[in-house]
Amino acid sequence: MAEDPVICTCLDMCKSEIVGAIREKKCKTVEEVGDEIEAGAVCGSCIDDIQEILDEENA
Ligand code: FES
Repeated sequence: MAEDPVICTCLDMCKSEIVGAIREKKCKTVEEVGDEIEAGAVCGSCIDDIQEILDEENA
């Protein structure tokens, strides 16, 4: 992965951190990601991006 964009600006959380959590915790939904690492569970504006990462990881 060449770049590691910030996905969740509320938590200043980069894509690699979210991918790591999805793999480690085996998250399947945005809600599960929020429960585990809070990403997407603050303002919610990054939910679409998290969903996209979930789709990539769980494809
Ligand atoms: S940007 Fe992720 S919850 Fe606000």
